[in-house]
Amino acid sequence: MTASTQAPVVSRTLHGNVLVVTIDHAPVNALSVDVRRGLVDAIDAAEADAAAAAVLIVGAGRNFIAGADIREFGKPPLSPLLPAVCNRIEACSKPVVAAIHGAALGGGLEVALAAHYRLAVRGAKLGLPEVQLGLLPGAGGTQRAPRLIGAAPALDLMLSGRHARAEEALSLGLVDRLGATDDVLGEGLAYARELLAAKAGVRPTRAAKALADADASRAAVDAARKETVKRARGLFSPMKIVDAVEAALTLPFDEGLALERKLFMECLDSPQRAGLIHAFFAEREVAKAPETKAAAPRPIATVGIVGGGTMGAGIAVAVLDAGLPVTMIERDDAALARGRGHIERVYDGLVSKGRIKPEAKDAALARFAGSTSYDALANVDLVIEAVFEDMAVKKAVFAELDRVCKPGAVLATNTSYLDIDEIAGTTSRPADVIGLHFFSPANVMKLLEIVVPARVGADVVATAFELAKQLRKVPVRAGVCDGFIGNRLLAVYRMAADYLMEDGASPYQIDRAMREFGYPMGPYQVVDLAGGDIGWAARKRRAPTRDPRLRYVEIADRLCERGWFGQKTGRGFYLYEQGVRTGTPDPEVEGIVESERLRTGVTPRSFTDDEIVRRLMCAVINEAANVVREGIALRPLDVDVALLYGYGFPRYRGGPMKYADMLGLPTVLAELKRLAGEDAFFWQPSPLIVELVERGADFSSLNGSAS
Ligand code: 3HC
Ligand code: NAI
Repeated sequence: MTASTQAPVVSRTLHGNVLVVTIDHAPVNALSVDVRRGLVDAIDAAEADAAAAAVLIVGAGRNFIAGADIREFGKPPLSPLLPAVCNRIEACSKPVVAAIHGAALGGGLEVALAAHYRLAVRGAKLGLPEVQLGLLPGAGGTQRAPRLIGAAPALDLMLSGRHARAEEALSLGLVDRLGATDDVLGEGLAYARELLAAKAGVRPTRAAKALADADASRAAVDAARKETVKRARGLFSPMKIVDAVEAALTLPFDEGLALERKLFMECLDSPQRAGLIHAFFAEREVAKAPETKAAAPRPIATVGIVGGGTMGAGIAVAVLDAGLPVTMIERDDAALARGRGHIERVYDGLVSKGRIKPEAKDAALARFAGSTSYDALANVDLVIEAVFEDMAVKKAVFAELDRVCKPGAVLATNTSYLDIDEIAGTTSRPADVIGLHFFSPANVMKLLEIVVPARVGADVVATAFELAKQLRKVPVRAGVCDGFIGNRLLAVYRMAADYLMEDGASPYQIDRAMREFGYPMGPYQVVDLAGGDIGWAARKRRAPTRDPRLRYVEIADRLCERGWFGQKTGRGFYLYEQGVRTGTPDPEVEGIVESERLRTGVTPRSFTDDEIVRRLMCAVINEAANVVREGIALRPLDVDVALLYGYGFPRYRGGPMKYADMLGLPTVLAELKRLAGEDAFFWQPSPLIVELVERGADFSSLNGSAS
């Protein structure tokens, strides 16, 4: 080592005749303006320093570079911009090598692509995930990647946003060499020295020839365009990616770059970018509940599950998949066998689809034990109850748990609606009782509502968050109320849809409008999928306490009275042919809707799809505001994440609260006031919305630093 110059986030050290440029910008070496400046300075310095024959770019910490600094998007751009930085690296008169470990994503990979040679060590992941943020690679990625690896693989990386492992990156030609060890600096230096010894010169990626087969390149772009029309489902940036890659085929490099920049700016200015980046930060922020900072989690090495039905079995798979042993309790041997059978079927499905190897199934099942005696739970660290949704049954189960479980065991319920304070209050240890609300299918759905009753200990809440991490779930903290966050909002969404249906819209129009808005399914398709009987039971349970001022639509009850529970009975709001999961509209249902309108004296009106979306969204936003105001959700972003991960809310809209902010809260309030003219009780504006509008603020002002 002969000389050293320190820059705050980019340092330069001469190792023999190789100038090592280290990016050290925690947490993930994102390309903030200081890093960009540091890189340009480093290349300038390398050219000016006669002792430097080559440049090696490496990242400090766990990653090479995670990409552009997402926090800078939406703010005024600061020079040097990343495309210029990449061009500067590529134009360096001395060979530049990128040595990659950890993540080289987005702009991070674009920096590597601008270098002349690339090496990756095992464990590195390379990708162009901009599409997931509503963007396209905007620092030359759409022009350099196709020239380097060909149009088809480059389009695949950009349109999927997936990460390629180092080995795959080598076979794609994205990197030139795989390091033999994990020592990224050592491997990079050895490679740079080897290149110098071989007198390998600069090798600009813009001159790479992987697009030489013009017919194959054109075919790849055409195929990607066709596929994107089919799959993009309302997303803006995928087609722009295809356009930009097409330019790599048809335009000189610099003109292609200019087009890429123009398309990138269009994406950057789109509301979808704002929605998707909000989702990115929000889903990281939800895991930081106050209790996770205030208390240490209790260790969880063994888990008990009570109930082996739909949820119990799915939760068991989620826990087994995390490598933890499970003991399941059922009422009798037959129910236990059904529970185990359900778990086996899930694993058989995964094996037959090639997702796991048969040995993985055997290993998971080896961690599973069942019993009909609660005594088998004497030593478990945490129990999750998933028995019938009935307060008396739940209380009986918690009495047993209170009797057998060791002191300090966490006692959790998967109830969807019931009062967890009441359940906790029947035990001698309310500080240990918490809600863990999984979603069906529990081994697949990412959302886990962590429902926090009044008397629970902070360490128990922290334990729940730690468990979520182990199970790879997205945890959202919720308070106790009927339906917590998600199901409470689902209830008003459904009510608003039912009002529209009785007032004149068909269930099929409502479903179509919400699909167009971005939901994968409309509300009535969801009812048919989940089973109409579930909602029917909940409505009957609530009937005695329902506020008489709340309008109640009986159409769904009429269907349930006929035994039409949806897919599982072959008909619900839709008709289902045997074995087919896509339903067709049912004229008999339309007849029932019509006769209910007659019975209630409603004169049907027509609604545009826009009006349908506006009403359903206003209903959800308004109730969501109440949920925040009452402290059921910590912040608006917690509501957003719950709906994104549990209810199919379109991610590119960021969640209902972000969507409300983008609409503008004064617009939402004006709409609520207009609708309150029809039904003052249901559409009564939330005091939180009124207050925010008066202050000229929006929901994001309540998100803290995460906005
Ligand atoms: N910019 C700013 N902050 C970022 C960031 C980025 N690109 N990537 C991650 N962070 C932040 C996170 O918000 C988090 O902050 P917090 O601690 O305050 O919550 C912190 O870094 C750590 O992130 P993770 O919790 O996600 O850490 P992991 O170790 O689990 O994952 C990762 C690391 C795989 C790099 C993951 O963070 C990731 O996927 N990041 C985003 C990658 C990406 O999308 N890059 C493309 C950006 S767009 C672009 O480059 C445009 C260009 O083409 C012009
Ligand atoms: P389910 O009816 O499929 O399963 C319940 C299981 O509990 C049955 O196997 C039954 O034999 C068992 N059981 C009943 N009493 C028992 C007892 N005393 N001891 C041991 N086992 C007992 O019900 P599902 O759908 O699995 O729901 C379970 C819980 O999960 C409910 O509280 C429900 O509200 C909640 N939930 C359900 C969701 C869903 O989509 N089905 C989603 C989220 C939560």
